[in-house]
Amino acid sequence: PRSIYLSRHGESIYNVEGKIGGDSDLSERGWQYARALPNLIKDNIGDGPLEVWTSTLQRTMQTGSFLPFEKKTWKSLDELDAGVCDGMTYEEIEEKYPEDFISRDEDKFNYRYRGGESYRDVVVRLEPVIMELERQENILIIGHQAILRCLYAYFLALPQDQLPYIKIPLHTLIKITPMAYGCDEKRYPLPI
Ligand code: F6P
Repeated sequence: PRSIYLSRHGESIYNVEGKIGGDSDLSERGWQYARALPNLIKDNIGDGPLEVWTSTLQRTMQTGSFLPFEKKTWKSLDELDAGVCDGMTYEEIEEKYPEDFISRDEDKFNYRYRGGESYRDVVVRLEPVIMELERQENILIIGHQAILRCLYAYFLALPQDQLPYIKIPLHTLIKITPMAYGCDEKRYPLPI
């Protein structure tokens, strides 16, 4: 059976600084993950045909840069747009927009950043990606935390209220294999 592989990009400079959004480069650890990814894939997927999909943001393209497979970049895979909060830390957001911070906590799926997006918005914009995914063979998506939560919830049929809290750790390859009923899942963490 065919499988869908999901991985967040390697650790980015913004991840280290605790800032959300942006278009920062990988950190040194992030580059280590990028360099280790070809072997992680070889050991667990084999040399079989694989296509790699990334967002248009540097950190996902850099993470895929050592992979010897065909690549496609999708704007629809870019991280949830945090609008006016892009580039801020959660502490800064809480200080500058305390009411927004509370509303997001109360309904994280529906909360839309000022000038940005909600998880619900992201689910809608991912529809064409999911349609294409359903038609393809083995695909590796190198994505972002919010995006991969939406894709993961789609395949594992998890409810909306749980979706924004799904744990998608850094430096971990997730394998999802659609079966007749539900999906089989395996995780391959790299201790980097
Ligand atoms: O911190 C990394 C990140 O991908 C941000 O760019 C993004 O806003 C955030 O995670 C999404 O996670 P949450 O919805 O839990 O804030």
